[in-house]
Parts: sequence; structure tokens; C-alpha cells
Amino acid sequence: MNHIAAEGAPQVFKGLVGVHADVTAISKVMPETNSLTYRGYPVQDLAEQCRFEEVAYLLLEGELPNRRQLRAFEKEERANRGIPKKLIRIIEEFPRRAHPMDATRTAVSFLGMEDPEAGDNSLEATKRKAIRLYAKIPTVIAAIARLRKGKRPIRPKAELGFAENIFHMFFGRVPDAEIVKAFDVSMTLYAEHSFNASTFAARVVASTMADIHAAVTAGIAALKGPLHGGANEAVMHMLKEIGTPARAKGWIDDKLEHRALVMGFGHRVYRKGDSRVPTMAKWRDRVAERLGGQKWLEISRILAEEMLAKKNIHPNLDFPAGPTYYMMGFDIPMFTPLFVASRITGWSAHVLEQMSDNRLIRPLSHYVGVPERAVVPLAAR
Ligand code: COA
Repeated sequence: MNHIAAEGAPQVFKGLVGVHADVTAISKVMPETNSLTYRGYPVQDLAEQCRFEEVAYLLLEGELPNRRQLRAFEKEERANRGIPKKLIRIIEEFPRRAHPMDATRTAVSFLGMEDPEAGDNSLEATKRKAIRLYAKIPTVIAAIARLRKGKRPIRPKAELGFAENIFHMFFGRVPDAEIVKAFDVSMTLYAEHSFNASTFAARVVASTMADIHAAVTAGIAALKGPLHGGANEAVMHMLKEIGTPARAKGWIDDKLEHRALVMGFGHRVYRKGDSRVPTMAKWRDRVAERLGGQKWLEISRILAEEMLAKKNIHPNLDFPAGPTYYMMGFDIPMFTPLFVASRITGWSAHVLEQMSDNRLIRPLSHYVGVPERAVVPLAAR
């Protein structure tokens, strides 16, 4: 365990490694068996058997919906997809070169100011706000994706499901059912993962009794980093840099020789493999078969083999998810905002859980700076 225990000093858990900061009933990560459950259900079964809308309901409400409950939930989501014209105008004013994650973070922050229940932090109002965020974030990120390329945003279509509507708003068309399912699977796999950095950031903010938009804004800020959500973008940049399978082995050997980080590999909790990878890899391969992209699979295979052989490190979810989104036609800088469209469900569940049994999150630090000293007046310095 990564802690410093100098003589007489308190034990410090750098990076909070190994620390249980609270209890949760939302998801369970089991590194010993490489498995993950949401509310008790194995994530790979949810991904294969349920639509993302059912999983979103499960995370927020604690149980899978029956047909009537799902219809009502979907109706609410579809009715709330629209975003204010003013927000479109604001997005238009963002610098063209701004990273879409920064744009997403700012847009969500704006939605917090416009929300009809902005001043109400009750659990009931917070859940309604969570559903509005879940409904609006796809519209926000699709608008960002199009405006940054000088295109007009496309309005959401209420007759389309969650995943189909995302394709419609990004590209103006919906691909075949197998591609939509692959995307839907990625949404389910990305939705929730216990006390990861962005969720913990969201819980810290919620613990101060700030509102859910503030907590989610913090979550998005944390997710941007390449050690966290930003890795799905970094993976695709890496695969493109390598370019051809023939270069893959030499490329990775060189990185490992220089002790460089290889994006899409390793995980704080999983040491023997990420529970979500086999499902995502299967759907990535299907997408490659349908849309072309075998070379990304071949490069990925070589990298994974080398990482395992040389470092005993396994790929994480971002490794298959990045090329899947790329083959579907999404621009690389939109990969992490797509992650936001899914993780909003997990963040919201955690914000609600934190609010329902709150204690301010405020750890201690062990001071190692200069000992106490007298201030020397400016004139004498
Ligand atoms: N590439 C190369 N080496 C890696 C690695 C990677 N992706 N991930 C871990 N390692 C090495 C570390 O350098 C360290 O080696 P050392 O003991 O010789 O110093 C060892 O494996 C243990 O890793 P550690 O840094 O303790 O892991 P962590 O729990 O602090 O970090 C991550 C976990 C996810 C931040 C880390 O694996 C990483 O940076 N991965 C790449 C980014 C990524 O894909 N993030 C998405 C996570 S879902």
C-alpha cells in the first residue's frame, strides 16, 4: 500500500489508495473476480440484456423498471431533451479550439442556473434535476460536436430511443441496430464504477450541500483528465500514431523501455483485468466487422499482448471503447463527453446517496512544510 509512515507521523494514504471513504449500495467492484455489479446485477448481463434507459432507471431508483415504469421514465427523458436557445448561443461563443469537455462542463454549469428548481435541494427535486441532466446532456454534447465544426445543431427526436437519438443529433442519421446496440452497451458499461475520481469529486461537492449541477460540474472536471475518462481519447490518438500493425510491437517496446504510461492500460482497483473489457471488446469487434477497422483491432491485440507479457498489465474499458467510437464516426475529442452522457446516471445516484445520509467530506493532511516562523515586514525583506 502506498503510504508514508515516518516516525511519529500519522499514516498518509497517498491517492487515498486502499481507503474506504464511505459505504454505497450502488455498485460493487470485485477485483478478485474481475467483476462489477450495479445494484447487484452483473454489468455484462445488464449490457447484453437491457437497454441503457433501463440501466439509468436502475441506478437512480435501485430496481430495474417494469414496462409501465420504463414507459413513464422514457417519456420524462424524451420530454426533457430540449436545451434553451440561449445555451446554443453561448456554446457558439465558445472558442472553436476549446476542448469539448470544457464546453460540456460549462454548459452543464449553465443548465444549473436555468433549472426551474435551481433553489430546491430536496431529494425529490434533485432526482428530477438528475433526470433533466440525463435527458439534456446528449443534446448539449451533440450541439457542441456540430457547432465546433461550423454545423447547425440537430434537434432531438422524441420518437427515438436514447442511443438512437444520440446518433441522430450527431450525424443526422441512425445506423443499423447492431451499431446502435454497440453504442448502447458502451453507455451501460460506462455508467457507474463506485468511488472513482469523478464520482468522488461529485460526492465531495454534494457533501457541502451544494446542488447537483455543482456536483456534476465537478465530476465532469475530474473526468477530463487522461488518467480517468480522458483515456478513451488518448487511446485513439495512440492507435492513430502507431498507424499500422507492423509498427505496434516496436512502438510499445520503446514506450515500455522509457517507462512511459500506455493509455488504456492499468486500473487503480482492477489488477487482473477490467470486468467491462470482454463485453466492450466483443462489441468493438462487431463494429469493426460492420464498418471496417480491422487494423485498429490488430494493433490493439499486439499492444495488449505486449503489455501483458512485459508488464502484466491489462487493458481497461477505455481501450476497446475509444476505437469503437472512432469507427462509429465520432470525433476523438467527443469521446469523453460521450462518457459524460452515460456517467451522469452514476454521478446522480451517488449525489442522491450522499445527500440522503450526508456527512461533510473533509479529510486531514499531514503538514510537512516550513516550521512556524515570524513574518518579516516588507521593508525589511
Ligand atoms: N502504462 C505503463 N505502466 C503502467 C500503466 C500504464 N498504463 N499503468 C500502471 N503502470 C505501472 C506503473 O508505472 C507502476 O509501475 P512501477 O511500480 O514500476 O512504478 C505500476 O504499473 C503500478 O501502477 P500505479 O501507478 O500504482 O497505478 P495507479 O493505481 O496509481 O494508477 C492508473 C492507475 C489508471 C492511473 C494507471 O494505470 C494509468 O495511468 N493508466 C493509464 C491511463 C488510463 O488508461 N486511465 C483510465 C483508467 S480507467
